[in-house]
Amino acid sequence: MDIQTIMVIGAGQMGGGIAQVAAQSGYKVFLNDVSLELVDKGLGGIEKNLSRSVAKERISEAEKQAILERITAAVELDPAAGCQLVIEAVVENMEIKARVFEELDRLAPKQAILASNTSSLPITRIAACTKRPDRVIGMHFMNPVPVMKLVEVINGLETAPEVTAAILETVEKMGKTAVECKDVPGFVSNRVLMVMLNEALWELYEGVASAEGIDAIMKLGMNHPMGPLALADLIGLDTVLAILNVLLEGYGDPKYRPSPLLKSYVQAGRLGRKTGKGVYDYS
Ligand code: CAA
Repeated sequence: MDIQTIMVIGAGQMGGGIAQVAAQSGYKVFLNDVSLELVDKGLGGIEKNLSRSVAKERISEAEKQAILERITAAVELDPAAGCQLVIEAVVENMEIKARVFEELDRLAPKQAILASNTSSLPITRIAACTKRPDRVIGMHFMNPVPVMKLVEVINGLETAPEVTAAILETVEKMGKTAVECKDVPGFVSNRVLMVMLNEALWELYEGVASAEGIDAIMKLGMNHPMGPLALADLIGLDTVLAILNVLLEGYGDPKYRPSPLLKSYVQAGRLGRKTGKGVYDYS
């Protein structure tokens, strides 16, 4: 399947990153969100990242302009009609994703692949919102997308082998490494990662050590690039909570129960870096 034009739904930190990487790899991209303001914010982030690459002499100013020109802002889903691949990166909420996929199924060409960047919701359930479950797949990028090498590729129950093959090829063209896994709650990455982040939040709740202490122990002791609490802030505490709830519901195992402190942060609107305050204060 010849993929040339990709639509990215959601211009937040993940969607913006995916759009940047796709445009850098030569794809024509439509970047969509519900308002022009949100798309512009996403485009602003891409522009900033590319300017840094120019300053570091990794790309020229002309290349930066060419990459930006490959990205078109979209506040409607209609441009999906001209795309071979749509990657959804909206909020981790099944009802919202269901609405997006129903609409995309109506608009995108019959052969187009509809991918979700969900970090834990079942691909099979998302696929069931469409009349083309064989052409729905998970493409789970990691944050920050322009830096992280992995894309976890999740095959739903009905995903056709040629769809998986086309996605593996696309990921490779984006300069990333794809690893396939089955459609289980949390897939491979978040089933492992969220337990660690949650445990660190339990430790903080219990006063075992300070936030800085917990993070320093994991950074210096395990050689992690950042501590679990700083990473939870980077991912977004609302996203961490949503994934833990999916794991708890999916496996019915209390080991996934979220720390009360995590719930409090989310209730208080302290969602991490994106709101300027989470476990840490970024103001
Ligand atoms: N966007 C683009 N580039 C970024 C960036 C961002 N948001 N954040 C950092 N970078 C770039 C920097 O510009 C820098 O690039 P140069 O080499 O060109 O200077 C490079 O990354 C390194 O950044 P820094 O020097 O500022 O800081 P660092 O060395 O500490 O690296 C980090 C930052 C890449 C985030 C690193 O700390 C790291 O790898 N952390 C772990 C991230 C991780 O685990 N991600 C997975 C999260 S899980 C997930 O995403 C899945 C899910 O479903 C929840």
